[in-house]
Amino acid sequence: MNLIPITSPSFLDPGLLGRLPDWRSIFNTDNPLVLEIGCGVGDFAASMATLHPEWNYLALDYYNKGCLKTCKRADKAGLSNLRVVRDEARSFMERCIEPGSLRAVIINCPDPWPKLRHRKRRLVNAAFIAYLRGFMQSGGELFFSTDFVDYGLDVAGMMPGIPGFENLLAPDLYRHNLTGYPLSKYMIKFMAEGKQIHFVHYRKHPQTGRIHAEG
Ligand SMILES: C[S@@+](CC[C@H](N)C(=O)[O-])C[C@H]1O[C@@H](n2cnc3c(N)ncnc32)[C@H](O)[C@@H]1O
Repeated sequence: MNLIPITSPSFLDPGLLGRLPDWRSIFNTDNPLVLEIGCGVGDFAASMATLHPEWNYLALDYYNKGCLKTCKRADKAGLSNLRVVRDEARSFMERCIEPGSLRAVIINCPDPWPKLRHRKRRLVNAAFIAYLRGFMQSGGELFFSTDFVDYGLDVAGMMPGIPGFENLLAPDLYRHNLTGYPLSKYMIKFMAEGKQIHFVHYRKHPQTGRIHAEG
């Protein structure tokens, strides 16, 4: 495959990242690490990194052109707290993220795989959320949004059954607006078509980080 080379200083070549990289030296700060999975073209990542200079923000996608565009946004805005990685989410986390370290995990408009027979290809399911929980710090936030109703209801419905999380939108399981949360390219596209976004927002249980009610 011919990939357009990315030479931006915001780009982290996963091939050159060692196991459990020293994020502190990469970002030049000890700020907590936030991971956005499937950042697309990086509009949301740039907005979120601007809103949260106190976060070290990793925007991840395996789509090279998206990584390139995200890097361009980071460079143009001079965002020293944003880095871009071209990799597959699980593979990257296994190698590069210390368990219990993420301040937040963000997933916006993941591929919906609308056909029934393809649903099992969806990135987000109960097993994946439980897997993410292991990489999150106690009190760390999980943001999920989707433009696809069925996906939104599915994730909103499964979250209360996944131990170790607290619903930050309670008593609602999801909302169609999340104050202060930037809009991504896909959100804007689907909202322009009159569709509603489902937002889900949880926190890893802040008391102990222990997993409650697990059988
Ligand atoms: C529908 S796009 C949404 C992009 C962006 N989040 C937005 O809301 O505009 C989904 C993105 O997730 C990426 N993606 C899907 N599965 C992934 C995985 N396992 N690891 C990394 N990226 C993934 C795709 O390459 C694609 O860019």
